[in-house]
Amino acid sequence: MKKKIELIDLKLRFQSEKKEILSCLHKVLKNGSLVLTKELQNFENNITNYTGMKYCLGLNSGTDGLMMSLWSLGIGKGDEVITSSISFVASIGAIMHVGAKPVLVDINEDLNMNCEMIESKITKKTKAIMPVHWTGRVCEMNKIKNIAKKHNLLIIEDAAQGMGSFYKKKRAGTFGDISAFSTHPLKNLNALGDGGFILTNKKNLYEKIRRYRNHGMVNRDDMEIFGVNSRLDSLNAEVLSFRLKKLKDIIKKRRKNVEIYRKNIKSKSIKFPKEKKYEKNSYVMFITLCEKRDELQKFLNLNGIQSLVYYGTPLHLHKASKILGYKRGDFPIAEKCSKKVLALPHHQYLKKKEILYVCKKIDEFYEKN
Ligand SMILES: Cc1ncc(COP(=O)(O)O)c(C=O)c1O
Repeated sequence: MKKKIELIDLKLRFQSEKKEILSCLHKVLKNGSLVLTKELQNFENNITNYTGMKYCLGLNSGTDGLMMSLWSLGIGKGDEVITSSISFVASIGAIMHVGAKPVLVDINEDLNMNCEMIESKITKKTKAIMPVHWTGRVCEMNKIKNIAKKHNLLIIEDAAQGMGSFYKKKRAGTFGDISAFSTHPLKNLNALGDGGFILTNKKNLYEKIRRYRNHGMVNRDDMEIFGVNSRLDSLNAEVLSFRLKKLKDIIKKRRKNVEIYRKNIKSKSIKFPKEKKYEKNSYVMFITLCEKRDELQKFLNLNGIQSLVYYGTPLHLHKASKILGYKRGDFPIAEKCSKKVLALPHHQYLKKKEILYVCKKIDEFYEKN
């Protein structure tokens, strides 16, 4: 196969949506108003209709969504938030930025936080649990909700990767007190750059964040609190409203990709965390666990197949995390998985023959190694 098989192909996406994206641009520019306009409100309404939640606020990023969620719940200095030991760095970065302390738990072989370990981490300082729906798989939310209820803790869902995923027929991001989503270009619902939003049913949180994202202003001459600038811009709001209509089909195609991978890779040296009966993963990424991961990645690369180590460093082993006082060996499953994780090419424009080629090359590698 001559053509490189890319992990995610944003160029193809633009080609297939050129007319619509340019029409969004035209519409927004023609209005002459680019921030906090009806396009943003329209997007927020579309998201509340889609998710069934009462309130949505479009923001600059998923990271801002997490920070503002924590802030709006009054979490800060002296507080602890329990979260997963593998995630994108923003999960714990957001906790640190509000002045609280991230307390990590190991993951399960399904790559999400091990709920059985949460209670042993609860102290007098614990204020919240932040489940991360990594790879689009929703955490065991019934268990997490029960623990939160028993210990009177808040839940902030890091649903950055969870748009369109389900757990027991309920959508990711609809379980907690508040949830944060990312619309970064690598997500299933993606903007033309950075973006994100929060969801909540709590009016007080919605009202706080609505002020906070706009410098804390009630109007130009009246600042109620010190806030920040984190408003999803009108162009991205319009593009996201358009792309939301396509999300169902995108997820369908992505689930089909995964099925083809599962059926056609024969080697037992590469594993795919199983989807449980009550889950429906939107597969924002297709993450596998591979023996001899680095050699496999080199071999795939030589054969024109892009892949990505995602995430190769558990959160406690980052340089910045030294301050948290963890050491190697503290989260053995996270450490083991981080040495095996590899994301394979996975997007809605991928052809079946391309996936079959990737499968063939993976099997070829393991036959020789
Ligand atoms: C699990 C997780 N949390 C938080 C974020 C942060 O989102 P953003 O990049 O939009 O700030 C991401 C983004 O990739 C993520 O994957």
